[in-house]
Amino acid sequence: MLQVRDGNDPLLKRPFSLFRTIAGGIQLLYRIQGKGTTLISQLAAGDVVSLLGPLGNAYPVQGAASAASVSPPVIIAGGVGIASVFPLIESIHEVMHQSTRDTMNGGATVIYGARTAEELLDLDELKALSKELHVCTDDGSSGEKGNVLDLLKSIVPAEAGVLPVMYACGPKPMLRAVAEYAGSLGAKTYLSMEEHMACGIGACLGCVVKTKSKGQDVDDSADIEKSTEWKYQRVCMEGPVFNAEDIVW
Ligand SMILES: Cc1cc2nc3c(=O)[nH]c(=O)nc-3n(C[C@H](O)[C@H](O)[C@H](O)COP(=O)(O)OP(=O)(O)OC[C@H]3O[C@@H](n4cnc5c(N)ncnc54)[C@H](O)[C@@H]3O)c2cc1C
Ligand code: FES
Repeated sequence: MLQVRDGNDPLLKRPFSLFRTIAGGIQLLYRIQGKGTTLISQLAAGDVVSLLGPLGNAYPVQGAASAASVSPPVIIAGGVGIASVFPLIESIHEVMHQSTRDTMNGGATVIYGARTAEELLDLDELKALSKELHVCTDDGSSGEKGNVLDLLKSIVPAEAGVLPVMYACGPKPMLRAVAEYAGSLGAKTYLSMEEHMACGIGACLGCVVKTKSKGQDVDDSADIEKSTEWKYQRVCMEGPVFNAEDIVW
C-alpha cells in the first residue's frame, strides 16, 4: 500500500504488487489510472514515499514445480497483472532449474495479453524465464490478435489429458473467463483478485469478494457477513490469491 505523497490528498494509500526485488530495494510496476498513479508518475529520483507491506498472501507454488515435468504450470497475465505474476514466473523457473538443472526448458507456460504492443513489457526476460511464452494483443500489434482466453483454449484444450496448475492476474472479466474455463476442465487454478482498497490491513472491509462458504477457511474472528452458501473474504488479508473454484462471481 503506497502513500503517493505526503498529506491527505489523496487520503488513501494505493495497492500495488511486488513486481521485483532488486539489490537494495523493490520495484513496483504501475499503469497510470487516475489521480494517485498520475502523482506517482511525477515522482523524481530520490523522492521519499511511505509504504505499508508486504501484505496479504502469495501464489502457492508447492507441487506445481514437481508436477511440471508432466505438465508445466500455466501462468496468465492480462495487462499490468504481469507485475503480480512476474515473481511467480521467476520462482517456478528457479525451482525447476534447481530440480532439473535444465536451463533451456525449465519454467512455466506463460500467456501474456495486453491491449497493444506498447503495453507488453520485458518480453525477452519473460521468454528466458518461461518454458513457452505466448503473447496476444487486442489489436494484433504483437503476437496473436485476440485475448488470453483464446490462447489458453488452444494451449490447454478441453480434451487435454493432463491438466496443468494455472495462475492468473488481470482485469476481473478476464479472471472470470479463466475461472469458468478452468472450472469446466477441472484444472486447479489460483487467481489474484483486484478490488478497491482503503486500509489494506483487514479493518475497513472495503475489499471483500464473495466466496463459497466451503472454500479454504480464513480468520473467522473477522466480522464479515456470511450465509450457509457464501461468505465474504478480504482481498487484502485472505487474498489477493484465491482458489478460482471458491469465488462466487
Ligand atoms: C492487490 C492489488 C494489486 C495491484 N497491483 C497493481 C500493480 O502492480 N500495478 C498497477 O498498475 N496497478 C495495480 N493495482 C491497481 C491499482 O491499485 C490501481 O490502479 C490504483 O489504485 C489506481 O489509483 P489511482 O489513484 O491512480 O486511480 P483512482 O483515481 O483511484 O481510480 C481511477 C479509476 O480506476 C478505478 N480503480 C482504481 N483502483 C481500482 C482497483 N483496485 N480495481 C479496479 N478498479 C480500480 C477507479 O474505479 C477509477 O475508475 C492493484 C490493485 C490491487 C487490489
Ligand atoms: S482494504 Fe480494508 S479490509 Fe481490505
